[in-house]
Amino acid sequence: MSEATPKQFVAVLDFGAQYGQLIARRVRDLHVYSEIVPCDIPADELAAMKPAALILSGGPASVYAEDAPKIDPGILELGLPVLGFCYGHQIMAVTLGGEVAHSEVGEYGPATIVRDGESALFAGTPEEQTVWMSHRDAVSRVPEGFVVTSSTDVCPVASMECASRKLYSTQFHPEVRHTEHGRELLENFLFGICGLAATWTMDNIIDEKVAEIRAQVGDRKVILGLSGGVDSSVVAALVHRAIGDQLTCVFVNHGMLRKGEPEMVEEVFRDQFQVPLVHVHAERRYERLLAGVTEPEEKRRRIGSEFWKVFFDEAQRIGGVEMLAQGTIYPDIIESGARKTGGKASTIKSHHNLIPFPEGVHFDLIEPLDHFFKDEVRELGVALGLPDRMVYRQPFPGPGLAIRIIGEVTSEKLEVLKNADAIVREELDAYNERLFEETGERNSEHSCWQYFAVLPDIRSVGVMGDERTYARPVIVRAVESSDAMTADWAKLPYDVIGRISSRIVAEVSGVNRVVYDVTPKPPATIEWE
Ligand code: XMP
Repeated sequence: MSEATPKQFVAVLDFGAQYGQLIARRVRDLHVYSEIVPCDIPADELAAMKPAALILSGGPASVYAEDAPKIDPGILELGLPVLGFCYGHQIMAVTLGGEVAHSEVGEYGPATIVRDGESALFAGTPEEQTVWMSHRDAVSRVPEGFVVTSSTDVCPVASMECASRKLYSTQFHPEVRHTEHGRELLENFLFGICGLAATWTMDNIIDEKVAEIRAQVGDRKVILGLSGGVDSSVVAALVHRAIGDQLTCVFVNHGMLRKGEPEMVEEVFRDQFQVPLVHVHAERRYERLLAGVTEPEEKRRRIGSEFWKVFFDEAQRIGGVEMLAQGTIYPDIIESGARKTGGKASTIKSHHNLIPFPEGVHFDLIEPLDHFFKDEVRELGVALGLPDRMVYRQPFPGPGLAIRIIGEVTSEKLEVLKNADAIVREELDAYNERLFEETGERNSEHSCWQYFAVLPDIRSVGVMGDERTYARPVIVRAVESSDAMTADWAKLPYDVIGRISSRIVAEVSGVNRVVYDVTPKPPATIEWE
């Protein structure tokens, strides 16, 4: 757990990665800090983290499967309020002496529970309510001291509790939106049963983080590699709020950024925040580095390793810098599997630290966002005064436009791609804005999640005016996704595609054709290289 973690926090014991994250999100949405811990954490280690309450997540296993994750029984004896969902419900039952049976009929999707008796967990919610179920096994006998508080036609113990020990559990998933009163149940647990306060708000978070960074840094100098991306920008704004001019931002411009991007970084950080900013013009260095290189992985490798060379050269030039700030975020840590360290943040960092420090170079790391989810990072950015156009940007790959130019990267191709890409972004930003006005949702079902132009390494014949042309095509890629793991091509209205096409051929010289990529991921990827 990070040092600045507020005293009050809810530990989510994760029995299956996707469930734990969602629960932590829901708790944080209610302004209570929450962290995910591995389900096999020993009771004493968990107690040392001083959580105020525990939630046991769902998980894909059957409690009786040989390799089913177990829980240290001592955890349920710590005297902490506990709420278990699905697998968490069943593991609580069997650990405390109840029974779980394999039922003939599973329950998947919406189900109606009927409540039985008074329960603080269900306070203020109706006698019958729709919940989201996903199980085959079910609790067949509750542990001693427990009572059943709801059931469905096929599930005799849809929820149970031992109020005197503050132990509660539900077979259904209150964390999913389809559970009609899921949010109220969580509120009842956090505020009614555990007596927690909703103090995890952006203002408090900023104050805490600022204090933490000041304590960690002291009077040392800190350097930060600014890419213009959301995470590094928010870290820059936060660290600058904490230590002012002790922070220097180094912006390595490799020349493969989108049109207008270097200017935006300068304008925001140098002009608006007055952060000491070194803009390293490495465009020529990269041009030479990539000359003749056509293989995608080789491009990525060269760009990545050169970035750190340029960065460390600059750090040495500045001199006296002992610390490096990084925009690592919570999913980076969770996905790297490092959480198996049981919340030992220092171990996590050395696992996670992928920066190839050169021989003899060392920096202490500060990663103030390492326990934030992406949309919390954005919220923090807004609260720190970063402009929306920086905070709500679409994802952009580190190797930049180089992986959207198929074949060799040349300055001529870069110019064509930057101009075409600017048009795609302008038109689709406007399209997303119209959807936002219509639906009131930033990421509505049909809004584009990522959209850009790609330049393939071919030419085709066209006719412009009375002239035959032999020029480049531009591929437009626009996808809907929520996490980039899978994506579908965006079903854009024809008039939007048409406008993008006619603007590109009219405004970008060297282009005579525009095509639209209609491939989902999988089988394609979002990027072309
Ligand atoms: P793919 O092309 O694998 O991309 O479907 C998934 C998401 O990751 C982004 N991406 C990258 N981001 N460095 C990054 O920081 C990279 O090398 C990189 N490659 C792909 C891509 O834009 C998409 O959002």
